[in-house]
Amino acid sequence: MVTIGATSRASEEFAPELLTVALYKGESPQDLGEDAARVVSDGDFGGKAGETALLYGQDGPAPRLLLVGLGERDLFTLERLRRAAATAARRARALKLQSAAFSLPALPDTREIARTVAEGARLGLYRFDRHKSAAEDHDLETFWLVADEGDLDGAAEGAELGSRVAEGTVLARDLANEPSNVATPEYLAQRTRAIAEKYGMELDVLDRAGIEEEGLTGLATVGRSASNEPYFIVLEHRGGGDSSPIVIIGKAVTFDSGGISIKPSAGMEDMKFDMSGGAAVLGAMEAAGALDLPLNVVAIVPATENLPGGDAFKPGDVLRMHSGKTVEIVTTDAEGRLILADALSYARRYEPSAVVDCATLTGACVVALGDHASGLMGNDEDLIAELQAAGESTGERAWTLPLLEEYTEQIRGDTADIKNSGGRKGGALTAGAFLKEFADYPWAHLDVAGTAYGKKGNAYTTKGATGVPARLLVEFLLGRTR
Ligand code: BES
Ligand code: MN
Ligand code: ZN
Repeated sequence: MVTIGATSRASEEFAPELLTVALYKGESPQDLGEDAARVVSDGDFGGKAGETALLYGQDGPAPRLLLVGLGERDLFTLERLRRAAATAARRARALKLQSAAFSLPALPDTREIARTVAEGARLGLYRFDRHKSAAEDHDLETFWLVADEGDLDGAAEGAELGSRVAEGTVLARDLANEPSNVATPEYLAQRTRAIAEKYGMELDVLDRAGIEEEGLTGLATVGRSASNEPYFIVLEHRGGGDSSPIVIIGKAVTFDSGGISIKPSAGMEDMKFDMSGGAAVLGAMEAAGALDLPLNVVAIVPATENLPGGDAFKPGDVLRMHSGKTVEIVTTDAEGRLILADALSYARRYEPSAVVDCATLTGACVVALGDHASGLMGNDEDLIAELQAAGESTGERAWTLPLLEEYTEQIRGDTADIKNSGGRKGGALTAGAFLKEFADYPWAHLDVAGTAYGKKGNAYTTKGATGVPARLLVEFLLGRTR
């Protein structure tokens, strides 16, 4: 694993094998020597976002100089910087170097800039290759963030913050990338136990008997036909004294076949990612522990498979949920909302100041927003605004969708209070309206079906799990400490 630290050019130990300098579009490099001036003036490097040029034979602190484009100065975002850092780290690794450095752009908030570069570098170097017999074995050892002498403290703090947030994200990615024969509900419970032990957090894990005893009907019902046992995982970070906690809930369906309402087989392998919400919540807790956040945070992860079988639940069944509301099953493939509903009503006991759930909940959300933003809904405008802002600054964007009364009308039940599907129209919103029925505190819901995993990846994500919304959640929690 790469070590990320801050240094200044003046430092004697500063001798990276490659130095990266980020440049805005159309701007000439300053004090980087003739070759760098030339590559720009000759038009070989224009500073477009993501563009790179590699120069050798430098007489500065490093034998290699990597120019990386940030795009237009006016359109600067932290996301562009994050991507530039990832591009630099990946290039250094591809060159089989041990060390690389990134000159922090001169912008006001050094800590935030350093944090962003650290996150980008660490996430850019992520790979999931533990099941490959011949894995690439070269790793970059050190990634230096280069700051002015006077900014070193801020840069060091930012490097540490960014590294910790990134490690939480890496955990989220690792858990989500694991296939369902590895990442069973029991495996998630074990990995959660490791977090609890590492940071001295409180852990409560309910097994099938405990789930039934607690009256978590939704989870018990979805998990009934699976031979990998369901678990209800509750992890508490107590850093906030007597203050009322923030609850984060993540859907962890370790494989969603659809159940009796079985899904088409094409693409079904991706349904191993249907526990990405739970993975992100656990990643956020890992970061919360590493950062020792001065908050009370409760993570709830209902974990189960959704499989057909002789004992499986069926369309038409009616469940009395943990809250007492009754639900008519229209389709067994709308299972996520059933396990989340129970987690939401379980959360009441904490008298939470806010509850955020995240889930790969609906294909409809993917149709609406693609893979560029998560769907964001809730019953509290301020909470929604906080989450939206956290999404903006982390690059894990979330877009607000309306929870109009009419969507609740659409899920009114025929033989029970409500039904678990409102049909094709507004599928992400009727799912949100369903969850709303179980939340009687400030609550928001993130539908990450389109953003939690992908077919291609970008500068700092790979094909597969992205870790979304782990960084958004951590940023939201950090906001609550300010
Ligand atoms: N896990 C799926 C949602 C999903 C679909 C995630 C595609 C990622 C990509 C969820 O359990 C589901 O099956 N939802 C149904 C609900 C419908 C039957 C009301 C859906 O979206 O089709
Ligand atoms: Mn489903
Ligand atoms: Zn699902």
